[in-house]
Amino acid sequence: MAALLSPSRDNILFYVNGARVVVEAPDLDQTLLQYLRSAGLTGTKLGCGEGGCGACTVMVSRYDTAEQRIIHASVNACLCPLYTMDGKHVITVEGLGTAKNPHSVQERIALLHGSQCGFCTPGFVMSLYTLLRNNPNPSELEIEECFDGNLCRCTGYRPILDAAKTFAEDAWKPGSTVNADGSATAMPKKQGMGDGSCGIDGCCRLKPQPEPAQDGNADGCCGAKKASGGGCCRKDGREDSAVACDDQGEVSVNEAEREKAEVIAKFQKYDASRELIFPPFLIRYAKGNTAAIDSVNSSSSSSSDNDIPRLPLAITSRNPASWCQQFYRPLTLEDLLAVLRQHPQAKLVAGNSEVGVEMRLKKAKFPVQVFVNDIPELQAISKCSEQVTFGANISLERFARVLDGLIKAHGPERTQSFAALRDNLRFFAGNQIRNVATIAGNIATASPISDLNPVFMAANATVILASAGAKYRRVPMSEFFLGYRRTAMQPSEVIYGVSVPFNVKGEVVRAFKQAKRRDDDIAIVTCGLRVRVDQSNKVTDASFAYGGMAPTTVLATKAMECAKDEVWGEPLLLNRMMQAVQEQLRLDFTVPGGMAEYRTTLAISFIYKFWALSCRALSIDCLEAAAADEMEDDAAERTLCKGKQEYASVTDRAIVGKGVAHLSALRQTTGEARYIDDMPTVTGELYMALVLSPHAHARIVAIDSESALAIAGVHRVLTAKDVPGSNCWNIFHDEEILPSEEVHYAGQPVALVLADNQRIAQEAARAVNVAYEALPAVLTVRDAVAQGSLFAEERVLRNGDVDSGLAKSDYVLSGDSYCGAQEHFYLETMASITVPKGEGDEFDIFSSTQNPTETQMVCAEVLGVPASQIVCHVKRMGGGFGGKESRSVLLAAFTTLGAFHTNRSVRIMLDRDEDMRTSGQRHPFLGRWTVGFSRAGQLQALRMQVFSNGGFSHDLSIGVLERAVSHVDNCYRIPATEIVGRVCRTNTQSNTAFRSFGGCQGMFLLESMLCEIADHLGKHVEEIRALNMYQANDITPFSQVLDDWNVPRMWEQLASSAQYAERRKAVDEFNSKSRFRKRGLAQLPTKFGISFGVKHLNQGMSLVHVYMDGSVLVAHGGTEMGQGLHTKMAQIAAETLGLPLSSIFISETATNTAANTSPTAASASSDLNGFAVYNACKTLADRLRPYREKMPNEPFSKIARTAYLDRCSLTAAGHYATPDIGFNWQKNEGLLYFYFTQGVAIAEVELDTLTGTHTTRRVDIMMDVGKSLNKALDIGQIEGAFAQGQGWTTSEEFLYFPNGPLFTQGPGNYKIPSALDIPRDFRVSLLENVDYKTLKTIYSSKGIGEPPLFLGSSVFFALRDAVMAARKERGIQSPLHMESPATPEILRMACVDEMVELARIPETMKEGKVPFVVRI
Ligand SMILES: Cc1cc2nc3c(=O)[nH]c(=O)nc-3n(C[C@H](O)[C@H](O)[C@H](O)COP(=O)(O)OP(=O)(O)OC[C@H]3O[C@@H](n4cnc5c(N)ncnc54)[C@H](O)[C@@H]3O)c2cc1C
Ligand code: FES
Ligand code: FES
Repeated sequence: MAALLSPSRDNILFYVNGARVVVEAPDLDQTLLQYLRSAGLTGTKLGCGEGGCGACTVMVSRYDTAEQRIIHASVNACLCPLYTMDGKHVITVEGLGTAKNPHSVQERIALLHGSQCGFCTPGFVMSLYTLLRNNPNPSELEIEECFDGNLCRCTGYRPILDAAKTFAEDAWKPGSTVNADGSATAMPKKQGMGDGSCGIDGCCRLKPQPEPAQDGNADGCCGAKKASGGGCCRKDGREDSAVACDDQGEVSVNEAEREKAEVIAKFQKYDASRELIFPPFLIRYAKGNTAAIDSVNSSSSSSSDNDIPRLPLAITSRNPASWCQQFYRPLTLEDLLAVLRQHPQAKLVAGNSEVGVEMRLKKAKFPVQVFVNDIPELQAISKCSEQVTFGANISLERFARVLDGLIKAHGPERTQSFAALRDNLRFFAGNQIRNVATIAGNIATASPISDLNPVFMAANATVILASAGAKYRRVPMSEFFLGYRRTAMQPSEVIYGVSVPFNVKGEVVRAFKQAKRRDDDIAIVTCGLRVRVDQSNKVTDASFAYGGMAPTTVLATKAMECAKDEVWGEPLLLNRMMQAVQEQLRLDFTVPGGMAEYRTTLAISFIYKFWALSCRALSIDCLEAAAADEMEDDAAERTLCKGKQEYASVTDRAIVGKGVAHLSALRQTTGEARYIDDMPTVTGELYMALVLSPHAHARIVAIDSESALAIAGVHRVLTAKDVPGSNCWNIFHDEEILPSEEVHYAGQPVALVLADNQRIAQEAARAVNVAYEALPAVLTVRDAVAQGSLFAEERVLRNGDVDSGLAKSDYVLSGDSYCGAQEHFYLETMASITVPKGEGDEFDIFSSTQNPTETQMVCAEVLGVPASQIVCHVKRMGGGFGGKESRSVLLAAFTTLGAFHTNRSVRIMLDRDEDMRTSGQRHPFLGRWTVGFSRAGQLQALRMQVFSNGGFSHDLSIGVLERAVSHVDNCYRIPATEIVGRVCRTNTQSNTAFRSFGGCQGMFLLESMLCEIADHLGKHVEEIRALNMYQANDITPFSQVLDDWNVPRMWEQLASSAQYAERRKAVDEFNSKSRFRKRGLAQLPTKFGISFGVKHLNQGMSLVHVYMDGSVLVAHGGTEMGQGLHTKMAQIAAETLGLPLSSIFISETATNTAANTSPTAASASSDLNGFAVYNACKTLADRLRPYREKMPNEPFSKIARTAYLDRCSLTAAGHYATPDIGFNWQKNEGLLYFYFTQGVAIAEVELDTLTGTHTTRRVDIMMDVGKSLNKALDIGQIEGAFAQGQGWTTSEEFLYFPNGPLFTQGPGNYKIPSALDIPRDFRVSLLENVDYKTLKTIYSSKGIGEPPLFLGSSVFFALRDAVMAARKERGIQSPLHMESPATPEILRMACVDEMVELARIPETMKEGKVPFVVRI
């Protein structure tokens, strides 16, 4: 084989973090990510494996001989075959700095709160680092754009962007505020507060104060005496204190900005000259100036610099099981064609962004692979007067740069096609993909939703194909695509380049793309549209090419024929063209990909848009051209994101309340933080893979493992028969660990395979043969209700006489509200390792779980051993959000079962698709309501049936239902209510806890109903909300008196500070002048009850050790998943013990130090564990007080040692149980929630009514978080939860195939918000200056993890407002029924117009047909 490319090498040479590496006979299946992680560089994370999340981002640098410069590129290591690394320098997050000596990027993201769970963080660090390596003085816009391929599920992006923008030339600096127009104004600076004190001698802020405010701390006084006499600066009413509030409760000095300024002031200066250099050897290597050819293969890692020549690679796999057996990297076109002659079926690999995904998701195998990105002929660019020819394999990043250059050099008229290509490249994938993916890769894939092909086709481009013997063939793009992923290319041919003609006078070209999300998403419909007119505007040529409307890129030939020889600008022509597009491209109701009517609407809308824009460009006066400005994508996109966080300083504590950064933040930004799969393997460790059911409901007839066991490296296949103890689990005991007779959802694990490594285990799992007998299945909540498929439990809240309330009402309205499922999308998928201790039945479980105790208990039951022999450890999670509260337990049970049977350590980390298919989501909810109300909109009576989709088993569904039923009231007084809740049993995963746990669903059902009431009365819904708002001491449907009720106050304050009334006028005025862009505004309140619904879970525990050196180890029952719980607990410990924060260490959560713990959930973990930590530390502080008093000037280490020598116990346990709590659902009696966290948001959006795309222009939030334990972390929780709520109600659409399997299995088609989606102007403030009357929590703080999530739906309601404006303009007055999530499809279709009507599929054509995918 090697003779084919002779001379050649079969090793690869590259550098990692400055060190040279030569890999002999590399594993041809290995990705760069796998290589790095196996080499111990575990800072680079695996989040999806399909290029969709950016967690695996590294910087790859190379010397480009064509451009004669070093190119630094961020790339997705998960999609990078290792063999492509030859001659490159890889820099990973470990190559930048350490927690002790961090790189500026790592330091700034860490200390400005840009890392919560930290799993996405190395990817963000590397994206920013790469930008700075290319441009040390980037603009803010460039910084925002550098993150377009990175997802974060925790932070809501704002703090990451803020931190990154400290590197910007035009940086926004702390001390400035953001004006409505986006400009910044400097804030007045307050002097003399560097130490956080108010400036008065003896200020309480300078001293630790150990007693927490169990009594509510009503006057805000710390109780301290000042040396100068008098009392606390808050108590004596000295409102001129630096930290006081004014009469309106407004914060006069913003501590958030002061803290930020203080942190920034300490940052090291960024010095680009100190970066790792590009190895000079690699420049010589790229230029071919290294060793002579006869030294081939003589290299080793210890070789001298000049020994390895850059040669073609020809590598034969040494592993007969590898998918790729033969690899070539030719360096000339001739060599490439020679390889193809010998291997006509060889797979060419360029950026691998298609091929890699095919291999990973479709398990496609390509035994012979040829890397084509190092061939200079395929990188060439040539130009003549008529056209430019772009080399096939230039990267999209370079393509974009070249296009920019051409546009600049040749002017807009001649380069319209180039500009259209450039437009579509802006939103083509993310940077990491564009940096490696190529033009030919896009063309050859022939994807029906390619972004480039329609534009090439419209531009009259030609594909140049090369074959052996220097033969070249030109094929017009319009003739290149023959069918679904079929092209005119012969096996012996390669794409050599693509020629795109310059444009001529009278020509207009445009490209449009519509996706579910703007950043990093593939198109739903995309197009390139071109028209050429003569001097009298007669059409001489037109080309309308579409993607997403057929199995391949197509020309809308009928519309093109319509246009031919007609006068462009004639109104009737537009109508005829729209009609022709509809007739030719109309999609069937069942079309693959779904969204039939929306896609047809888009195709028509794009013609409309093009008409308007082209008429304007050609100076043709028409109605549409007048509105063309509104249709420019730039009108609302990519305005810079700015934020403002506002809170007052803490006057009564030394450490508690301060905006201290997450204690692990620096370890997270440097990649030192360890997650489950980062742990080193134990000798003999096995990897586990799952055999998943393809059926939604079926009887298991037989499981045949023979073929799987025959594969070398496979050790065991385990089924239900292998469970030695109980095969039953979850709190209702209605679920099997492994199914014994029936499977209940597509994706259910049926058997477990144990093998030497992941690859073998997964291969073997596919070889396990399970015979099924399919049974009927039910998927959707509506079908389940219709078929009576319900769990037995019912939850009811009845108050007052609903029937007479309805009878007395001016109006009675009936309807339903629906909100869909949501995937947790924690960046770290579920993972577990079980290590047998080798003695008896003792096991250590390391799991990414929010619930160590249930993990321990279930694993013990599964094995039938005492719980005392099993320890579950949790260091941290890469996000949880409720998804790892119960469902993670199953995975730990699997690894423990494996460890039990093999007596070897067993590991598993789910692939993203496995995680999404198996783990359960947020419950979809359906509310069926009848409501009575007055003419003014006063609610009189409500009857609501609440149904959730629970999936196949109970899991936590009853708890979720209880919270939903008890949050239906949201913030409104309804005199008579009957709310009845049931859980539907369906054949989907068991839906589970998700941040807000039914609360947001309950509130959403009611708020949707209020909107329909408002529509009915012709009012804004805010009027209805204000009119019905609870007042203090009102009583909820669950009989709870609303004390410490601050929503009305925040409603007013926020309306005033966010200028709601003025902006409402401005929105109305904008809408009256704009036809196709509509703005919407929504003000939304929330209250969220804090406590577990199950009484016994309302307890926390801790164990605190003081060591002789004065260091303190705290253990408590809560787990760290990014929310900063350990940081808050450490703050409480430090405050209580009167020690600096640095003395406190929290190592992990483990069941041998904190037993019988509650799950970290319900936003209650700070309350429960905080008091438990306080109680333990108080005990210790009391014990140590005599020593401190005796030795007032000695360091704590000496005090601790003296106490030890005196035989004083330096260990204390703490426990806390929430008082007074306990609710009886039958009697509607008792206290359901200990207190309510409250908030209000105002959101403003702008909607493109032609496409459904929107921008969230501004959001203001005010939250009552009590006296926060850490204000900066609480702001982080608010922003992160908001973004999740926004995603839940706008972009995150969880879909199933109608026969049961999940459709949305990864970031490719499930869209969490990206950095571009968050509010462009995001202002968050904390309610200050409140006297809490009854709040009895630790330091009067409030739980914050879940409560703000519902406020994210203010974006949904603002969008609804915008849609209403569009509908009203079109004369539609009827109430709008809009379900969540409001995807672009829902929004566009709700803005009913002639295009929507044209695209509608008659009901008769839908009869008996099922759509491609369904919401459940
Ligand atoms: C996260 C993600 C986001 C994406 N977003 C988009 C998007 O927004 N829009 C879009 O259109 N696509 C998108 N894609 C798809 C993909 O990135 C593009 O199609 C890209 O252009 C493929 O280029 P590549 O070099 O990576 O191709 P590869 O994966 O290397 O190859 C793709 C195909 O091209 C063939 N090929 C490569 N070079 C040649 C050649 N010279 N001659 C003949 N055949 C050749 C290969 O054999 C293979 O069949 C996305 C992919 C991912 C993973
Ligand atoms: S892991 Fe590579 S992009 Fe998600
Ligand atoms: S911090 Fe970004 S995903 Fe957790």
